[in-house]
Amino acid sequence: MSVLLRMEGVEKSFPGVKALKGISLEVEEGEVHALMGENGAGKSTLIKVLTGVYGRDQGKIYFAGEEIHCKSPAEAGEIGISTIYQELNLIPYQTVYENMFLGRELKKNAFFLDRKAMQDEAEKALSDLGLEIDVTKSLNHYSTAIQQMVAIARAVRSKARLVIMDEPTSSLDQTEVRVLFRIIRQLKEKKISVLFISHKLDEVYEICDNLTIFRDGETVGRYAVQDIDQYKLISLMIGKEWKEREREDKKSFSDAETLLSVKNAKLAMRLSGVNLSIRKGEILGLAGLLGSGRTELAELLFGTEKAGEGEVFWMDEAYFRRNPSKSIEKGMGFCTEDRKTEGILPNLSVEENMTIAMLPKLQKHGFIDFKKQKELAKRYVELFNIKTPSLAQKIRNLSGGNQQKVLLARWMCMNPKLMILDEPTRGIDVGAKEEIEKLIQGLSAEGISVLMISSELSELARNCHRVVVLRDGKVRGEIEGDAIFEDSIMTLIAEDAKEGEEDEAK
Ligand SMILES: Nc1ncnc2c1ncn2[C@@H]1O[C@H](COP(=O)(O)OP(=O)(O)OP(=O)(O)O)[C@@H](O)[C@H]1O
Ligand SMILES: [Mg+2]
Repeated sequence: MSVLLRMEGVEKSFPGVKALKGISLEVEEGEVHALMGENGAGKSTLIKVLTGVYGRDQGKIYFAGEEIHCKSPAEAGEIGISTIYQELNLIPYQTVYENMFLGRELKKNAFFLDRKAMQDEAEKALSDLGLEIDVTKSLNHYSTAIQQMVAIARAVRSKARLVIMDEPTSSLDQTEVRVLFRIIRQLKEKKISVLFISHKLDEVYEICDNLTIFRDGETVGRYAVQDIDQYKLISLMIGKEWKEREREDKKSFSDAETLLSVKNAKLAMRLSGVNLSIRKGEILGLAGLLGSGRTELAELLFGTEKAGEGEVFWMDEAYFRRNPSKSIEKGMGFCTEDRKTEGILPNLSVEENMTIAMLPKLQKHGFIDFKKQKELAKRYVELFNIKTPSLAQKIRNLSGGNQQKVLLARWMCMNPKLMILDEPTRGIDVGAKEEIEKLIQGLSAEGISVLMISSELSELARNCHRVVVLRDGKVRGEIEGDAIFEDSIMTLIAEDAKEGEEDEAK
């Protein structure tokens, strides 16, 4: 097969960080190639250098046999390189179809856009992906997952020869991942290459042909996927021997005191009468597909979602008129799934982002104890192995996974009694994932309860003492202790789906 893309000796520095130290990469025509590496290894930076978001300091890039120097993503698009970036770069308040044609609008003549044609084409492109939505609504009307699908539709509908996907599946559920993989296979049939970045190894093993491993801004090696097992792959990524963490013994919490409970939680169209209780020290998992009501339930408990109904009890006392600051005062922490809109403060430093929620606690006689603030931030940077040149670095300059770690640390600092984690390891590499899982176990050992929402069933199976499966806003089942396995959770979710189809058929 012929080589479509070749990058040689590419270097790129930012103030205080050499992100790429002479990286090489080869992608063949019609292959799906994975880019693997820890958080901060340089994957996204390489993509941005290739597509002209950043200039490069050194190195050569060849595409379809010619040396290229793209100065902007639009220019990259013109020569056939289409990209879905890690952080979505669509315009939320514009309509779906405008977003799909951003920068290459269809025109009736020199003065007028052909809106009808754009709407029709956008509708068709999306329905090809199995998505029937109103394209004239603004993009932020839809969930992150749908926005992601729009970005994908936008990338594949252009005349691309290489489609780059930087963590495309991080906000998709299993069904949507199936759709994406179908699209990737279609691209392959058309001899279009895909450069695929993901921290989920099972995805890489399923869809990719070859992979290149990066570590600390350098290329470690290129392998055919079938020639490298998971242990070797991870060991090469982290630069030391790796062994899978053993499943924790499943402690029973049936005798423990109840910390939080909710009766008959309701929210229009989203939750229809959920009962749930969390015991002290227990790690309770919430499983279910996107739209099953997991996040809504967590938001209702925490008080971000105010429209909901339901009786909530916190340490046996009724908790009325819930709101986030009251919840924090009581001892709840809530690390949300959407770090971009709800989490990070992009222009503040790592240290500030980490300690912002606990500033009131850091005050002494009305002044912030800066020394303590710094110590705390330093401790978590070390504990989570956060890659940053300094505590003063603006958080927007950190890699995606490292931003996620800062957010987790923000809540850990607060010493909560209950930690609600919504997709805590999204975008986090294998090594850091293990660190975070250990931390969650540590919280439980100290008597802190954890409510964990995750689409990664293996993560729930390894860590939870009890797993509750939601579907269409209702509790559909519960698994406890030694019965918790990836398969048993999956079965419960799948059984439900079948039942649902039958219901609809009636
Ligand atoms: N604009 C920037 N300014 C300063 N430093 C940056 C900038 N962009 C990236 N970096 C740094 O370059 C390094 C590589 O980051 P990059 O985003 O490429 O990592 P990644 O491999 O994509 O990680 P992840 O898996 O977390 O997405 C990191 O140390 C990051 O902090
Ligand atoms: Mg990245």
